[in-house]
Amino acid sequence: MEAGEIFRVEGPAKVDVVEGELYAVGAIYRAGQSFTVLRARKLAFKAVSRSKISVMLGPGAVLERARPEEEVIDEWESLASSIELRGVIVIIGALDVGKSTMTAVLANKALMGNKGVAVVDADVGQNDLGPPTTISASRVPRPVTHLRQLQAEKSIFVQSTSLERIWDRAVEAIKRLVDYAKSQWGSDVVIVNTDGWIAGEEAVAYKRSLLSALAPTGIVAIRIGGELDEIVKGFTNVAFARPPPAARTRSKEDRKIHRDMSYGRFIFPVKEISIDLDKLPFCNLVLSKGIIIDNNLMGILSRAINSRIFYAVQSGNLVYAITEGWAIKRVGNVRVFGLPEGFERGLLVGFEDSGGFLLGLGVLKRIYYEKRKAVIYASAKLERSLDKARCIRVGYVRLNENFEEAEKVTQLLRYDLYSSERDGSVRGAGSA
Ligand SMILES: Nc1ncnc2c1ncn2[C@@H]1O[C@H](COP(=O)(O)OP(=O)(O)OP(=O)(O)O)[C@@H](O)[C@H]1O
Ligand SMILES: [Mg+2]
Repeated sequence: MEAGEIFRVEGPAKVDVVEGELYAVGAIYRAGQSFTVLRARKLAFKAVSRSKISVMLGPGAVLERARPEEEVIDEWESLASSIELRGVIVIIGALDVGKSTMTAVLANKALMGNKGVAVVDADVGQNDLGPPTTISASRVPRPVTHLRQLQAEKSIFVQSTSLERIWDRAVEAIKRLVDYAKSQWGSDVVIVNTDGWIAGEEAVAYKRSLLSALAPTGIVAIRIGGELDEIVKGFTNVAFARPPPAARTRSKEDRKIHRDMSYGRFIFPVKEISIDLDKLPFCNLVLSKGIIIDNNLMGILSRAINSRIFYAVQSGNLVYAITEGWAIKRVGNVRVFGLPEGFERGLLVGFEDSGGFLLGLGVLKRIYYEKRKAVIYASAKLERSLDKARCIRVGYVRLNENFEEAEKVTQLLRYDLYSSERDGSVRGAGSA
């Protein structure tokens, strides 16, 4: 390669520098060094000086010479050089614009400047560090070509693959992970990658509230047109970038397949674990905590909601009942929440430690109310750390027997929102 020449490669591939120097994703690779490109991912690299390289291409891989006008490699590099890489940097943009790649560029760039770098991945649908439904954080010990090469060191379970109606929890979780990276890891710079949810009033409210809460040193907005205008309005520290013109876009189906594969990765090798709910309760289901109601009240409630009640507990003026279907009803001064028998089957759950951080994911098989037990599929690794668990948070995603997404249980989201509003509970450290 002549100095300045750019190639684009789609993985799986490995690029070895034999002589000279290459620039890829914010890092410099010298003779004897190499980088990998993951399957179905693309990246561009450039010769800093006249170089000799060796490229190993895996099945379906493509290597092509890029015309300079097709690439944003120089624009992105000058952006990375122009912003102050310290404190918190937030990346925003729509789907597939290169947010994850930009996060890696900035992380590598900061590493090259000998800074302590951490990444927080707040993309709950396509998380590169941890499983879907989480916000995850990791230190960056060496340059990476894809965030996927890092592994979550700290995660917070946010119960869903989209943040609609629950984004306030995401703001709190992201803030907590950023603070953790600064205080516990001593990171000089924390780069926050976000999800591609940018359109509509709620998405704008979320992103603006996140930016206000984090008060970042810099905001990097990857935009195609005016789609981020509403979000960044009034913020002065915004650097704009263009997406790579040759970026791959992924269909909704592609994204779901990607997630499906991800759940399994974090639950396998799977074991059936029996949980004593008196020792390890649910964080967000009163079912295992309240007082069991008597037959008399059971009869009254059953008639009022016009359904059989299999089991019910009372906590204050709230009654949670296992019934024939979903129901929310006021009976006198009590509010009855009916959850259908078997509603728990396949629900994704997160085991949380006393700091509100995720220990691992599991899938609910069955709750035995009278015995105060739950059977959960989880990894053997998680089973070994159960002594650190404080409670089990039930999520809104239902998986099938192959650990693939089957549905989003919106009724449960509604229950959760209502109960947390009622008891004024705040997630995380200190909340019961
Ligand atoms: N220079 C480039 N030329 C072409 N494609 C690229 C280039 N850099 C990155 N890509 C590819 O573009 C796609 C989108 O990039 P990336 O995953 O960084 O975007 P994203 O905004 O994080 O997407 P998502 O919304 O899925 O999280 C990826 O498949 C990535 O490999
Ligand atoms: Mg991404």
